[in-house]
Amino acid sequence: MRIFREKDYDAMSRRAASIIAGETVHNPGCVLGLATGSTPEGAYKYLVDWYKQGLISFRGVLSVNLDEYVGLAPDHDQSYRRFMQSNLFDHVDIVPENTRVPDGLTKDPAAFCAEYDAYIRSLGYVDMQLLGIGRNGHIGFNEPDDHFVKETHVVDLTESTIDANARFFASRDDVPKQAISMGIGAIMGAKKVLLCASGEDKADAICKSVCGPITPNCPGSILQLHPNVVLVADEAALSKLIAAGVEV
Ligand code: GLP
Repeated sequence: MRIFREKDYDAMSRRAASIIAGETVHNPGCVLGLATGSTPEGAYKYLVDWYKQGLISFRGVLSVNLDEYVGLAPDHDQSYRRFMQSNLFDHVDIVPENTRVPDGLTKDPAAFCAEYDAYIRSLGYVDMQLLGIGRNGHIGFNEPDDHFVKETHVVDLTESTIDANARFFASRDDVPKQAISMGIGAIMGAKKVLLCASGEDKADAICKSVCGPITPNCPGSILQLHPNVVLVADEAALSKLIAAGVEV
């Protein structure tokens, strides 16, 4: 795993954006696996900025997103589809039909999940998968469990994830209790993984994911088995790794 140690959130965002931009330049028809949450917002801002300057294009890019809340319509202000539109898609030249976010309103989740995986397989998997990480080590919405789930699936969100995401909703009760998430199979099938983290509240999850035991109790730890992971993190998110003596 290559680790970029950045001084703060802005430097982390710029580094992550430069890696994604590099992928679009070298491989204009690439498949990007995209993530939501506060972590990638800064990187998306840089990408929009560079697009507006004419430095990069998303015209040939295909995207698949990691997850979506069950029960939220695409235009709900906290849906991940809406997040992607307002943080990236509406501001760049990506072809709308080439963007996929799981359908939180699907009437047939099992069929939807199977189709999502079939679509990812039909693309030959993702070229570069962007990931944030939950405080409990979740990636996408693959929550700590006693086993890894390979396929796209419906997840019951943990209390700690509901607590963490309550800040985006009017009240904790408004946070959906379930999500559809890409499984560990599609994430591990990506040719490259770009894991991003910022802030001290991610230090434990990063430390366990990078050098703890590989266990479904910390889903991010599976990334130790992936041959091409780049971690971009700020000092605060790396603090426990540094304290554990890992050279970064
Ligand atoms: C969310 C998302 C994840 C994200 C994580 C961290 O619930 N499902 O994809 O990486 O939790 O979010 P944040 O970046 O806001 O800390």
